[in-house]
Amino acid sequence: MEKNVIEEGEELISRREALKKMGALAATAAISVSGVSALASCAPAAAASDKTLKVLLINGSARRNGNTFTLLSEIAKQLKKNSIESKIVGVGNRPVRGCIACGQCHAKQLGKCTFDDDICNEIIDKMAECDAVIVGAPVYYGQPAGQLLAVVQRMCYSAGNKLQGKPASAVAVCRRGGATAAYQTLLMPFQMLNMPIVTSQYWNIGYGGAEGEVSQDAEGLQTMRTLADNMAYMLKQFATGTAKFPERERGKFTNFIR
Ligand SMILES: Cc1cc2nc3c(=O)[nH]c(=O)nc-3n(C[C@H](O)[C@H](O)[C@H](O)COP(=O)(O)O)c2cc1C
Repeated sequence: MEKNVIEEGEELISRREALKKMGALAATAAISVSGVSALASCAPAAAASDKTLKVLLINGSARRNGNTFTLLSEIAKQLKKNSIESKIVGVGNRPVRGCIACGQCHAKQLGKCTFDDDICNEIIDKMAECDAVIVGAPVYYGQPAGQLLAVVQRMCYSAGNKLQGKPASAVAVCRRGGATAAYQTLLMPFQMLNMPIVTSQYWNIGYGGAEGEVSQDAEGLQTMRTLADNMAYMLKQFATGTAKFPERERGKFTNFIR
């Protein structure tokens, strides 16, 4: 099966280096090894783990280099500027099952879906390694694309313990309408899993129809960068308690893409 995974890890600095950069090594906060699920204790900073903070970006479009990918790439670039690693995983264009409520994942305590014949468990494995998640979807008939919903529902049901407490967000892209409804739908499972929701200067939506067209949506792209800054801030704040609130760009205001 096509992996559809893009690594965004090159030249990234470790969590310890990130802390140094933030001037946090001089401070008293320490990072819990489990990452973001616990707030920093007052142990010496030297005890900080070298674990790099990572965000999983799930592309819910079958168009590998489409508009959802463009928005997630903008987030990945901005996370990198904040010394946060990220990885874009696509649901791809192969069939994806929906949850059939068989309950095998719980009955057998699998920690993943009992069906191992599509991308879902691969995404769950990647999620387990990450400290936060952002899902992105194209809008289909005012809703997030079905493949992504199928993956997210199975992931939350079978592997909710790997998501609990991790910051989460969502991104929707459409040609003209339905993005806010899709955006809200995407957030709903995370709101049932004690996941802090990361927001931006606006709802996390972009406008574009043809592949890549969303790159003309200057405000949409800025919204993604602000989201990435806020995600980085939340992750670092949870890890150290000493993160600096992000500086803001001058606001862009566009009507659709102009
Ligand atoms: C089946 C289908 C339904 C769509 N429904 C909507 C819609 O309700 N509203 C809208 O503005 N665009 C709609 N679109 C357009 C896509 O949301 C838009 O092209 C988006 O940028 C695709 O993202 P992608 O390039 O990441 O796949 C639809 C496209 C398809 C294929």
